[in-house]
Amino acid sequence: NDRPEKRPLTLAFESIAGSLTDAVVVPPGYTAQVVVPWGTAILAGAGSFSDDLDITPDFQAASVGMQHDGMHNFALSDNSASRHLLLAMNNEYIDQGALWFPQGGATNSSDGARPADEVRTEINAHGVTIVELEKAQDGKWSHVEGSPYNKRYTSATPMKLSGPVAGSEYVRTKYSPDGTLTRGTNNNCANGYTPWGTYLTCEENWPAVFVKDEGRTIDDDRLGISAGRGRYGWETAAGDASEVDDEFARFNANPTGASGTEDYRNEPRTFGYIVEIDPYTNERAVKRTALGRFRHEGCWPGKLVAGQPVVFYSGHDSRNEYIYKFVSKEVWDPAYLNQPGKSLDRLAIGDRFMDEGTLYAARFDADGSGEWLPLTPDAVAPDGRTLAAALGLAADDLAGVIIHTADAADLMGATPMDRPEWGTVDPETGDVYMTCTNNSDRTEEGTAAEINNGNAIEDLGAGYASAPVNAANPRPDNGAGQVIRWREGSDATVFNWEVFVFGAAAADPDNLSGLTELNQFASPDGLWYDDRGDGNGILWIQTDNGYGPVTDYTNDQLLAVVPGNVEKSDGDAAVIGSANQVQLRRFAVGPNGCEVTGICATPDKTALFINIQHPGNWPSSDDATVETSGTVRPRASTVVIQREDGGEIGV
Ligand code: FEO
Ligand code: CA
Ligand code: CA
Ligand code: CA
Repeated sequence: NDRPEKRPLTLAFESIAGSLTDAVVVPPGYTAQVVVPWGTAILAGAGSFSDDLDITPDFQAASVGMQHDGMHNFALSDNSASRHLLLAMNNEYIDQGALWFPQGGATNSSDGARPADEVRTEINAHGVTIVELEKAQDGKWSHVEGSPYNKRYTSATPMKLSGPVAGSEYVRTKYSPDGTLTRGTNNNCANGYTPWGTYLTCEENWPAVFVKDEGRTIDDDRLGISAGRGRYGWETAAGDASEVDDEFARFNANPTGASGTEDYRNEPRTFGYIVEIDPYTNERAVKRTALGRFRHEGCWPGKLVAGQPVVFYSGHDSRNEYIYKFVSKEVWDPAYLNQPGKSLDRLAIGDRFMDEGTLYAARFDADGSGEWLPLTPDAVAPDGRTLAAALGLAADDLAGVIIHTADAADLMGATPMDRPEWGTVDPETGDVYMTCTNNSDRTEEGTAAEINNGNAIEDLGAGYASAPVNAANPRPDNGAGQVIRWREGSDATVFNWEVFVFGAAAADPDNLSGLTELNQFASPDGLWYDDRGDGNGILWIQTDNGYGPVTDYTNDQLLAVVPGNVEKSDGDAAVIGSANQVQLRRFAVGPNGCEVTGICATPDKTALFINIQHPGNWPSSDDATVETSGTVRPRASTVVIQREDGGEIGV
């Protein structure tokens, strides 16, 4: 790989030790402030959160959602972009335990119906929060309650379907007989953003909220639609208004009518997409079906070049699933670049660049090259059939291929990965990094799947029960994960790749990257290259770790590495730990029980925002570094990390 020479940054903090406390830990000279925890009222008149508050549907709909995950900041004006911004944040899931319902936990017995208002509250705690934030003279951040920009998108908010699947027979429901609308976005994990100033929120663990026992399809099985009872039992609720608009019945995807427009058998097919939101307006959110349907972790724009297509990368976070790339049909025109105050019809620009194009799945070959495999009806699989023929679809049924994205990728021979999570792109070189978090279903030899849980199309690829090791995923029973890196090749269908760093405990025999106690990590998940211009930037790695040898030593964490400092020779595992410890440093550690996820920074890189998801007993103070004494009602929160002297983070 010819990588242009970088002018690397020097990390100007010492790697911190691991930590196992109810506090956020940051290096000396840094502060960490809690902002917008779950339940922070953002709409005027919402009321206020307290530790014993019984959360109602209305309060939750007007307040920050639960279990913060991916996020991104949007400037409100050029000259104050680093002091005043919109924060768009995913609220991935809910905790149904006693900390959520102080009276003792959700009414959730296995045979009992759920109370309507509990379910409404839970639905309203999911989705996306948009909130205006500003920094005061003293450096403290606060949210602007009642800002006209503040809003919530929940698992009940009407949304538009767009792209090839919109209007197709696959998504016609009783709610939307013409297949152009649906309600809600669910279990949104990582995120993305577009050059034209929109937020992308990505539907990951949504299949479990739907129930289907009869008439299950290949995609229902492949993606894991529940049988019997949904993850939260939402389909069991009934209430005053619920029969009128199928408020809860829509989570029951069993056929009850004569066709798909009389019931909700197709409701799950209105989920599994990248959802585009204009954070600056109240326009209806749009599900961009052209980017594939699966358990999307996130969606990241590639290097932007005028006159070239716009590219987005995405990963399917399940064991032995795939990495994808979408290439727009239209070519980029810098006139569409977002600037604060610029008048842009952002979602119309999204129509232009995200509704028409080609979706590809990645095959990583052992020699370090790779190929992007097109997922179009006429693409020819290695067995000689077209995808349309192999999937049993009409010859021009692009919507059908998208509904069955993962099966199409199987058929084309994509490489099953160790659970692809976040990606990020160096906008100068175009290098793409992606975390592969772990994989307990990876073995030396591999074992074939019971094809789609028995609901088989003959010869359909249908994934693996356990996949055999391959060059890009070389470790069986991979508990520690790795970060992979690739660069696009001479045309849109080829690339070159290498493993950037392998997670491991310092004491592991397979500590391939030579990590030490000061930078050991496992299960990389969040990832962000914080481009600082002129080829400079820090690659931030966040963890969501259940790997004992590392969790015995430290809670989940945020690490920093300057990619330009990492010297690698072809074919080597990057040894970026003990051999040259300056390269990869632990920057922050989260409180007990949490996952560290979500990351963005102000344009001047003086404020770094991270999310603390599912903390066990934190926060007890606005100061995130204060260790909780006693017991608090835990709240997922955003944490702003700044330097005491106001300087740039990390350098
Ligand atoms: Fe919600 Fe793939 O983590
Ligand atoms: Ca994740
Ligand atoms: Ca994860
Ligand atoms: Ca999580």
